[in-house]
Amino acid sequence: MISRTNTTLSKQKSLFSKKYFTLALAPMAGYTNLPFRRLIRSLGGVDLTFTELVNARSLIENKKEALQLSSLSQDDMPCGIQLFGGVINEMIEAAKILESQGASLIDINMGCPAPKVLKGGGGSALLKEPFFAIQMAEALVKSVSIPITIKTRLGFDSEHIIAPMLAHAFQESGIQAITIHGRTREQGFSGTVNLEIIQQVVEAAPKIPIFGNGDITTVKNALIMKNKTGCSGLSIGRGALYNPWIFNQIKSSSAHSSPPSFEDRLQWMENHLKALIEYYGETSACCQFRKIAPFYTRRMGPSREVNRALSQCSSFAQYLEIIENYKGKRILFLDENGELKPTYYPQPVHSSLDFY
Ligand SMILES: Cc1cc2nc3c(=O)[nH]c(=O)nc-3n(C[C@H](O)[C@H](O)[C@H](O)COP(=O)(O)O)c2cc1C
Repeated sequence: MISRTNTTLSKQKSLFSKKYFTLALAPMAGYTNLPFRRLIRSLGGVDLTFTELVNARSLIENKKEALQLSSLSQDDMPCGIQLFGGVINEMIEAAKILESQGASLIDINMGCPAPKVLKGGGGSALLKEPFFAIQMAEALVKSVSIPITIKTRLGFDSEHIIAPMLAHAFQESGIQAITIHGRTREQGFSGTVNLEIIQQVVEAAPKIPIFGNGDITTVKNALIMKNKTGCSGLSIGRGALYNPWIFNQIKSSSAHSSPPSFEDRLQWMENHLKALIEYYGETSACCQFRKIAPFYTRRMGPSREVNRALSQCSSFAQYLEIIENYKGKRILFLDENGELKPTYYPQPVHSSLDFY
């Protein structure tokens, strides 16, 4: 149980005032768990976080995984608990449970493309049933007194772009903010993020903050998202894995501030793994870390070999050994000043926003 302190509530209120430019960590299943959210908060710059998506029915049934996914902590506030489901009464019941446990914000997932989520009528399946989606939003707003926000996409496919219409209806229903991923369900996580349609969403719901999402990986393309769409905040997912310092860099508009060093990145990686171990235990944490590590090593120079080793890592001791070994071999890629030789510079992370 978490207590809703006055500071958290007023901080949260200002995020939804439209006067404040909000930087949010986007929800990512398997990544934005409590230990990661706490850690990224410690770097500063993040105003708002979201849990990974939580199945409303599993929460009602008191399933351990749903309870763990919806756990909050005082040092990670405000944090929205993201719910998904295709049955309005279940969404209401789950929202009421969370409210009674001290949640201060609930986000409805209307964008997840995973077949498992669609099968139950949740996530982006709601984009095929816009009037039902609006009913769900209205019902949740009426059932609890904490703010409800929505995360959605442009539409199910390019033939059915409904986000501007939906955004207007959500605003009228009392939804407090919308995160819009500038892709359709059909596009999944690749292809171009459409800034023109995000701008239409901003214009269709002028009374509430709209957070632009998709492919924000640098300060430069954060500004492109902001300036081309007029959005009131940014939601950053994968960009925060490639570069956990991104929020601070955007806040200080310091595209040219010195990038984190190799040692900073290694320290961050180790801190992340340690935080996971403390929360989930060594075996589960090391297993989870196998898919997280490549996001970090990608920025360090040639990483195929270290990734291969990390993909089999099953203990912290083994992790330290792999990294020591990597440090020894990485010397081959460095110049006399200890910097990566230009041939080994990592390729910039691809972002469709770079083409705007
Ligand atoms: C591994 C992964 C898991 C994700 N899980 C969720 C989720 O639980 N809820 C959600 O609304 N979006 C989820 N997303 C979508 C992201 O929040 C975001 O909309 C998308 O990745 C585009 O933003 P980005 O380019 O900043 O990552 C997920 C994305 C990825 C890559």
